[in-house]
Amino acid sequence: MIPVNEPLLGETERRLVDECVTSGWVSSSGRYITEFEEGWAAYCGRRYGVAVSNGTAALEAAVAALELEPGDEVILPTFTIISCVVAVLDAGAVPVLVDSDPETWCLNPDDVAARIGPRTKAIMPVHIYGHPVDMDPVLELADTHGLSIVEDAAEAHGAEYLTGRSTASPAWRRCGGFGTLSTFSFYANKLITTGEGGMVLTDDAALAERLRSFRNLGFGQTRRFFHEEMGRNLRLTNLQAALGVAQLQRIDAAVAHKRWMAELYGERLRDLPALQLPVEQPWARSVYWMYGVVLAEESGMDAEALSGRLREHGVETRPFFLGMHEQPALHRLGLFAGESYPVAERIARQGLYLPSGLTLTEAQIDRVAAALEEVLR
Ligand SMILES: Cc1ncc(COP(=O)(O)O)c(C=O)c1O
Repeated sequence: MIPVNEPLLGETERRLVDECVTSGWVSSSGRYITEFEEGWAAYCGRRYGVAVSNGTAALEAAVAALELEPGDEVILPTFTIISCVVAVLDAGAVPVLVDSDPETWCLNPDDVAARIGPRTKAIMPVHIYGHPVDMDPVLELADTHGLSIVEDAAEAHGAEYLTGRSTASPAWRRCGGFGTLSTFSFYANKLITTGEGGMVLTDDAALAERLRSFRNLGFGQTRRFFHEEMGRNLRLTNLQAALGVAQLQRIDAAVAHKRWMAELYGERLRDLPALQLPVEQPWARSVYWMYGVVLAEESGMDAEALSGRLREHGVETRPFFLGMHEQPALHRLGLFAGESYPVAERIARQGLYLPSGLTLTEAQIDRVAAALEEVLR
Protein backbone atom coordinates (compact mmCIF):
# COMPACT_ATOMS: atom_id res chain seq x y z
CA MET A 1 0.00 0.00 0.00
CA ILE A 2 1.34 3.43 -0.90
CA PRO A 3 0.67 5.46 2.27
CA VAL A 4 -0.94 8.90 2.24
CA ASN A 5 1.91 10.18 4.34
CA GLU A 6 5.15 9.26 6.07
CA PRO A 7 7.31 11.57 8.19
CA LEU A 8 10.95 12.01 7.22
CA LEU A 9 13.26 11.70 10.24
CA GLY A 10 16.99 11.13 10.34
CA GLU A 11 20.27 11.30 12.20
CA THR A 12 20.01 14.92 13.38
CA GLU A 13 16.59 14.22 14.89
CA ARG A 14 18.01 11.16 16.67
CA ARG A 15 21.04 13.08 17.95
CA LEU A 16 19.09 16.04 19.37
CA VAL A 17 16.45 13.87 21.02
CA ASP A 18 19.22 11.68 22.43
CA GLU A 19 20.84 14.77 23.87
CA CYS A 20 17.61 15.61 25.75
CA VAL A 21 17.48 12.10 27.19
CA THR A 22 21.13 12.19 28.23
CA SER A 23 20.88 15.64 29.79
CA GLY A 24 17.52 15.00 31.45
CA TRP A 25 15.85 18.04 29.83
CA VAL A 26 12.78 16.14 28.69
CA SER A 27 9.97 18.35 29.98
CA SER A 28 8.87 21.84 29.02
CA SER A 29 12.03 23.74 29.96
CA GLY A 30 15.19 23.51 27.91
CA ARG A 31 17.12 25.17 25.15
CA TYR A 32 15.33 23.52 22.25
CA ILE A 33 11.98 25.16 23.06
CA THR A 34 13.45 28.64 22.65
CA GLU A 35 15.55 27.59 19.68
CA PHE A 36 12.52 26.14 17.92
CA GLU A 37 10.32 29.15 18.73
CA GLU A 38 12.91 31.63 17.51
CA GLY A 39 13.80 29.56 14.45
CA TRP A 40 10.23 29.11 13.26
CA ALA A 41 9.23 32.72 13.98
CA ALA A 42 12.26 33.93 11.98
CA TYR A 43 11.47 31.57 9.09
CA CYS A 44 7.95 33.01 8.92
CA GLY A 45 9.13 36.60 9.36
CA ARG A 46 7.57 37.13 12.79
CA ARG A 47 8.90 38.51 16.07
CA TYR A 48 7.53 36.05 18.62
CA GLY A 49 6.85 32.32 18.61
CA VAL A 50 5.07 30.48 21.42
CA ALA A 51 5.30 26.71 21.14
CA VAL A 52 2.34 24.65 22.33
CA SER A 53 1.32 21.00 22.46
CA ASN A 54 -0.53 20.81 19.11
CA GLY A 55 -2.22 22.86 16.40
CA THR A 56 -5.60 22.73 18.13
CA ALA A 57 -3.99 24.15 21.28
CA ALA A 58 -2.38 26.87 19.16
CA LEU A 59 -5.81 27.93 17.89
CA GLU A 60 -7.27 27.73 21.39
CA ALA A 61 -4.49 29.93 22.81
CA ALA A 62 -4.70 32.39 19.90
CA VAL A 63 -8.45 32.92 20.20
CA ALA A 64 -8.20 33.11 24.00
CA ALA A 65 -5.58 35.84 23.64
CA LEU A 66 -8.16 38.04 21.87
CA GLU A 67 -10.18 38.23 25.12
CA LEU A 68 -13.55 38.05 23.37
CA GLU A 69 -16.84 38.67 25.15
CA PRO A 70 -19.67 36.11 25.14
CA GLY A 71 -21.62 36.52 21.91
CA ASP A 72 -18.70 38.00 19.97
CA GLU A 73 -18.41 36.40 16.55
CA VAL A 74 -15.52 34.87 14.63
CA ILE A 75 -15.88 34.23 10.90
CA LEU A 76 -14.26 31.05 9.60
CA PRO A 77 -14.62 28.60 6.71
CA THR A 78 -17.01 25.68 7.11
CA PHE A 79 -14.48 23.60 5.13
CA THR A 80 -11.83 23.06 7.81
CA ILE A 81 -10.95 20.89 10.78
CA ILE A 82 -13.15 21.03 13.88
CA SER A 83 -10.21 22.48 15.89
CA CYS A 84 -11.10 25.92 14.50
CA VAL A 85 -14.66 25.78 15.86
CA VAL A 86 -13.52 24.26 19.16
CA ALA A 87 -11.15 27.20 19.73
CA VAL A 88 -13.93 29.74 19.13
CA LEU A 89 -16.42 27.91 21.36
CA ASP A 90 -13.85 27.48 24.16
CA ALA A 91 -13.40 31.24 24.20
CA GLY A 92 -17.16 31.66 24.69
CA ALA A 93 -17.54 33.19 21.23
CA VAL A 94 -19.81 32.31 18.31
CA PRO A 95 -18.46 30.69 15.11
CA VAL A 96 -19.94 32.12 11.89
CA LEU A 97 -19.31 30.09 8.74
CA VAL A 98 -18.52 30.93 5.13
CA ASP A 99 -18.25 28.81 1.99
CA SER A 100 -15.12 27.94 0.00
CA ASP A 101 -13.69 29.20 -3.25
CA PRO A 102 -14.33 26.39 -5.79
CA GLU A 103 -10.73 26.45 -7.08
CA THR A 104 -8.50 26.98 -4.05
CA TRP A 105 -10.97 25.39 -1.57
CA CYS A 106 -10.00 28.16 0.86
CA LEU A 107 -12.53 30.56 2.37
CA ASN A 108 -14.17 32.94 -0.08
CA PRO A 109 -13.40 36.59 0.86
CA ASP A 110 -16.67 37.85 -0.70
CA ASP A 111 -18.61 35.58 1.64
CA VAL A 112 -16.62 36.93 4.58
CA ALA A 113 -17.63 40.48 3.69
CA ALA A 114 -21.29 39.41 3.56
CA ARG A 115 -21.21 37.93 7.07
CA ILE A 116 -19.57 40.80 8.95
CA GLY A 117 -21.98 42.25 11.50
CA PRO A 118 -21.96 44.35 14.68
CA ARG A 119 -20.68 41.44 16.83
CA THR A 120 -17.89 40.33 14.48
CA LYS A 121 -14.51 40.56 16.24
CA ALA A 122 -12.21 38.30 14.23
CA ILE A 123 -11.70 36.40 10.98
CA MET A 124 -9.98 33.02 10.89
CA PRO A 125 -8.61 32.33 7.39
CA VAL A 126 -7.38 28.73 6.97
CA HIS A 127 -4.88 27.92 4.22
CA ILE A 128 -6.25 24.68 2.82
CA TYR A 129 -3.98 21.76 1.79
CA GLY A 130 -1.01 24.09 1.36
CA HIS A 131 -2.60 26.76 -0.88
CA PRO A 132 -2.78 30.27 0.61
CA VAL A 133 -6.03 32.09 1.21
CA ASP A 134 -6.37 35.25 -0.89
CA MET A 135 -5.27 37.35 2.08
CA ASP A 136 -5.36 40.94 0.79
CA PRO A 137 -9.17 41.25 0.68
CA VAL A 138 -9.37 39.57 4.09
CA LEU A 139 -6.78 41.95 5.56
CA GLU A 140 -8.61 44.89 4.06
CA LEU A 141 -11.91 43.80 5.61
CA ALA A 142 -10.18 43.39 8.97
CA ASP A 143 -8.67 46.84 8.64
CA THR A 144 -11.95 48.50 7.64
CA HIS A 145 -13.97 46.88 10.42
CA GLY A 146 -11.31 46.79 13.16
CA LEU A 147 -11.15 43.00 13.33
CA SER A 148 -8.36 40.67 14.47
CA ILE A 149 -7.02 37.92 12.23
CA VAL A 150 -6.29 34.42 13.55
CA GLU A 151 -4.48 32.87 10.61
CA ASP A 152 -4.47 29.06 10.63
CA ALA A 153 -1.36 28.03 8.71
CA ALA A 154 -1.29 24.46 10.05
CA GLU A 155 -1.19 23.05 6.52
CA ALA A 156 0.89 25.74 4.85
CA HIS A 157 4.44 25.59 6.19
CA GLY A 158 6.55 27.57 3.75
CA ALA A 159 3.69 28.55 1.42
CA GLU A 160 3.89 32.11 0.09
CA TYR A 161 1.37 34.78 -0.84
CA LEU A 162 1.89 37.80 -3.08
CA THR A 163 0.53 40.67 -1.06
CA GLY A 164 -0.23 44.08 -2.61
CA ARG A 165 -0.52 42.70 -6.16
CA SER A 166 -2.54 45.71 -7.30
CA THR A 167 0.00 48.15 -5.88
CA ALA A 168 3.38 49.39 -7.10
CA SER A 169 5.24 47.23 -4.59
CA PRO A 170 3.86 43.70 -4.38
CA ALA A 171 5.81 41.35 -2.08
CA TRP A 172 5.91 37.61 -1.46
CA ARG A 173 5.41 36.74 2.19
CA ARG A 174 5.18 33.41 3.95
CA CYS A 175 1.92 32.10 5.32
CA GLY A 176 1.97 32.53 9.07
CA GLY A 177 3.07 36.12 8.49
CA PHE A 178 -0.37 37.69 8.14
CA GLY A 179 -2.38 37.17 11.32
CA THR A 180 -2.65 39.28 14.42
CA LEU A 181 -1.95 35.76 15.64
CA SER A 182 -0.92 32.93 13.30
CA THR A 183 -1.01 29.25 14.20
CA PHE A 184 0.75 26.08 13.08
CA SER A 185 0.49 22.34 13.69
CA PHE A 186 3.54 20.08 13.71
CA TYR A 187 1.61 16.81 13.67
CA ALA A 188 3.46 13.94 11.97
CA ASN A 189 1.84 14.51 8.58
CA LYS A 190 2.93 18.17 8.33
CA LEU A 191 5.92 19.46 6.29
CA ILE A 192 7.93 19.58 9.48
CA THR A 193 6.89 17.66 12.57
CA THR A 194 7.49 17.41 16.30
CA GLY A 195 5.30 14.30 16.59
CA GLU A 196 2.56 16.35 18.22
CA GLY A 197 3.11 20.07 18.49
CA GLY A 198 2.03 23.54 17.48
CA MET A 199 2.99 27.20 17.62
CA VAL A 200 1.43 30.64 17.69
CA LEU A 201 3.27 33.52 16.03
CA THR A 202 2.70 37.22 16.57
CA ASP A 203 4.54 40.53 16.34
CA ASP A 204 2.81 41.90 19.45
CA ALA A 205 4.84 41.58 22.66
CA ALA A 206 1.79 41.85 24.92
CA LEU A 207 -0.07 39.10 23.03
CA ALA A 208 3.03 36.88 23.16
CA GLU A 209 3.16 37.35 26.94
CA ARG A 210 -0.53 36.48 27.24
CA LEU A 211 0.01 33.34 25.15
CA ARG A 212 2.93 32.24 27.35
CA SER A 213 0.85 32.69 30.46
CA PHE A 214 -2.16 30.87 28.93
CA ARG A 215 -0.02 27.90 27.86
CA ASN A 216 1.35 27.60 31.40
CA LEU A 217 -1.82 27.58 33.54
CA GLY A 218 -1.73 31.34 34.00
CA PHE A 219 1.05 31.11 36.59
CA GLY A 220 1.84 34.65 37.79
CA GLN A 221 5.29 36.22 37.65
CA THR A 222 5.42 37.29 41.30
CA ARG A 223 4.34 34.25 43.29
CA ARG A 224 3.99 30.70 42.01
CA PHE A 225 0.48 29.23 42.41
CA PHE A 226 -0.98 32.75 42.30
CA HIS A 227 -3.23 33.26 39.28
CA GLU A 228 -4.54 36.53 37.94
CA GLU A 229 -5.44 34.94 34.60
CA MET A 230 -7.01 31.63 33.66
CA GLY A 231 -4.76 29.34 31.65
CA ARG A 232 -4.34 25.77 30.44
CA ASN A 233 -1.44 23.37 30.30
CA LEU A 234 -0.59 23.50 26.60
CA ARG A 235 3.18 23.14 26.94
CA LEU A 236 5.41 21.51 24.35
CA THR A 237 8.28 19.39 25.65
CA ASN A 238 11.97 20.01 25.02
CA LEU A 239 12.05 16.49 23.53
CA GLN A 240 9.48 17.51 20.92
CA ALA A 241 11.16 20.86 20.32
CA ALA A 242 14.46 19.03 19.70
CA LEU A 243 12.74 17.19 16.85
CA GLY A 244 11.46 20.55 15.63
CA VAL A 245 14.92 22.14 15.61
CA ALA A 246 16.25 19.24 13.54
CA GLN A 247 13.23 19.33 11.21
CA LEU A 248 13.67 23.05 10.66
CA GLN A 249 16.82 22.23 8.71
CA ARG A 250 14.66 20.22 6.29
CA ILE A 251 12.00 22.81 5.51
CA ASP A 252 13.39 23.95 2.16
CA ALA A 253 13.81 20.36 1.01
CA ALA A 254 10.28 19.53 2.18
CA VAL A 255 8.77 22.44 0.23
CA ALA A 256 10.78 21.47 -2.87
CA HIS A 257 9.67 17.84 -2.59
CA LYS A 258 6.00 18.77 -2.36
CA ARG A 259 6.23 21.09 -5.35
CA TRP A 260 8.05 18.42 -7.36
CA MET A 261 5.35 15.91 -6.40
CA ALA A 262 2.59 18.28 -7.51
CA GLU A 263 4.28 18.87 -10.83
CA LEU A 264 4.54 15.14 -11.53
CA TYR A 265 0.95 14.44 -10.47
CA GLY A 266 -0.16 17.38 -12.61
CA GLU A 267 1.61 16.02 -15.70
CA ARG A 268 0.23 12.54 -15.24
CA LEU A 269 -3.34 13.40 -14.30
CA ARG A 270 -4.18 16.44 -16.40
CA ASP A 271 -5.78 14.39 -19.18
CA LEU A 272 -8.32 12.75 -16.89
CA PRO A 273 -11.41 14.94 -17.43
CA ALA A 274 -13.19 13.52 -14.40
CA LEU A 275 -10.62 15.04 -12.04
CA GLN A 276 -10.28 18.62 -10.85
CA LEU A 277 -6.64 19.07 -9.82
CA PRO A 278 -5.24 21.56 -7.30
CA VAL A 279 -4.68 25.05 -8.68
CA GLU A 280 -1.90 27.48 -7.94
CA GLN A 281 -3.16 31.02 -8.31
CA PRO A 282 -0.71 33.56 -9.79
CA TRP A 283 -0.53 35.23 -6.38
CA ALA A 284 0.27 31.98 -4.58
CA ARG A 285 3.15 29.56 -4.11
CA SER A 286 1.45 26.47 -2.77
CA VAL A 287 3.28 23.77 -0.85
CA TYR A 288 0.70 21.10 -1.79
CA TRP A 289 0.67 19.78 1.78
CA MET A 290 -1.73 17.15 0.48
CA TYR A 291 -2.41 16.61 -3.21
CA GLY A 292 -6.21 16.87 -3.33
CA VAL A 293 -8.41 15.98 -6.28
CA VAL A 294 -12.14 16.54 -6.76
CA LEU A 295 -14.12 14.09 -8.85
CA ALA A 296 -16.68 15.52 -11.27
CA GLU A 297 -20.22 14.74 -10.18
CA GLU A 298 -20.95 13.65 -13.78
CA SER A 299 -18.54 10.75 -13.30
CA GLY A 300 -21.31 9.04 -11.35
CA MET A 301 -18.84 8.19 -8.60
CA ASP A 302 -18.14 9.90 -5.28
CA ALA A 303 -14.87 10.13 -3.36
CA GLU A 304 -15.75 7.24 -1.07
CA ALA A 305 -16.26 4.90 -4.02
CA LEU A 306 -13.08 6.13 -5.70
CA SER A 307 -11.13 5.66 -2.48
CA GLY A 308 -12.34 2.05 -2.26
CA ARG A 309 -11.31 1.34 -5.85
CA LEU A 310 -7.87 2.91 -5.32
CA ARG A 311 -7.37 0.85 -2.18
CA GLU A 312 -7.84 -2.29 -4.33
CA HIS A 313 -4.91 -0.96 -6.39
CA GLY A 314 -2.73 -0.48 -3.30
CA VAL A 315 -3.23 3.27 -3.06
CA GLU A 316 -4.22 4.82 0.26
CA THR A 317 -6.26 8.05 0.24
CA ARG A 318 -8.04 10.30 2.74
CA PRO A 319 -11.39 12.03 2.32
CA PHE A 320 -11.61 15.84 2.27
CA PHE A 321 -12.91 17.72 5.30
CA LEU A 322 -16.63 17.52 5.98
CA GLY A 323 -18.03 21.03 6.55
CA MET A 324 -18.62 22.20 10.11
CA HIS A 325 -22.28 22.79 9.26
CA GLU A 326 -22.65 19.04 8.59
CA GLN A 327 -21.36 17.88 12.00
CA PRO A 328 -23.87 16.25 14.38
CA ALA A 329 -21.70 17.17 17.39
CA LEU A 330 -22.13 20.85 16.50
CA HIS A 331 -25.84 20.52 15.62
CA ARG A 332 -26.38 19.20 19.14
CA LEU A 333 -24.93 22.47 20.45
CA GLY A 334 -27.57 24.31 18.45
CA LEU A 335 -25.10 25.44 15.80
CA PHE A 336 -25.49 25.77 12.03
CA ALA A 337 -28.94 24.10 11.81
CA GLY A 338 -30.34 24.39 8.29
CA GLU A 339 -27.24 26.18 6.92
CA SER A 340 -25.99 25.20 3.49
CA TYR A 341 -22.66 25.86 1.76
CA PRO A 342 -22.80 24.30 -1.71
CA VAL A 343 -19.09 24.40 -2.61
CA ALA A 344 -17.98 22.87 0.68
CA GLU A 345 -20.71 20.23 0.40
CA ARG A 346 -19.69 19.22 -3.11
CA ILE A 347 -15.96 19.03 -2.44
CA ALA A 348 -16.56 17.14 0.82
CA ARG A 349 -18.38 14.47 -1.13
CA GLN A 350 -16.26 14.43 -4.28
CA GLY A 351 -12.80 15.22 -2.90
CA LEU A 352 -9.97 13.09 -1.56
CA TYR A 353 -6.25 13.40 -1.31
CA LEU A 354 -3.64 11.13 -2.80
CA PRO A 355 -0.37 9.86 -1.30
CA SER A 356 1.62 13.03 -0.66
CA GLY A 357 4.35 12.12 1.82
CA LEU A 358 7.89 13.35 1.97
CA THR A 359 9.22 9.90 1.05
CA LEU A 360 7.00 9.50 -2.02
CA THR A 361 8.95 8.41 -5.11
CA GLU A 362 8.39 9.00 -8.81
CA ALA A 363 7.65 5.28 -9.27
CA GLN A 364 4.93 5.51 -6.62
CA ILE A 365 3.44 8.60 -8.27
CA ASP A 366 3.37 6.64 -11.55
CA ARG A 367 1.55 3.78 -9.82
CA VAL A 368 -1.02 6.15 -8.30
CA ALA A 369 -1.60 7.81 -11.68
CA ALA A 370 -1.93 4.42 -13.43
CA ALA A 371 -4.46 3.29 -10.82
CA LEU A 372 -6.54 6.47 -11.30
CA GLU A 373 -6.37 6.07 -15.07
CA GLU A 374 -7.61 2.51 -14.84
CA VAL A 375 -10.45 3.31 -12.44
CA LEU A 376 -11.64 6.45 -14.26
CA ARG A 377 -11.33 5.52 -17.93
C1 LIG B 1 -6.11 23.48 9.19
C2 LIG B 1 -5.78 22.78 10.46
N1 LIG B 1 -5.86 23.47 11.62
C3 LIG B 1 -5.59 22.89 12.79
C4 LIG B 1 -5.19 21.58 12.88
C5 LIG B 1 -4.99 20.97 14.22
O1 LIG B 1 -3.68 20.55 14.45
P1 LIG B 1 -3.37 19.37 15.47
O2 LIG B 1 -3.75 18.10 14.81
O3 LIG B 1 -1.89 19.49 15.68
O4 LIG B 1 -4.14 19.64 16.72
C6 LIG B 1 -5.07 20.83 11.72
C7 LIG B 1 -4.63 19.43 11.79
O5 LIG B 1 -4.14 18.81 10.91
C8 LIG B 1 -5.38 21.44 10.47
O6 LIG B 1 -5.31 20.75 9.32
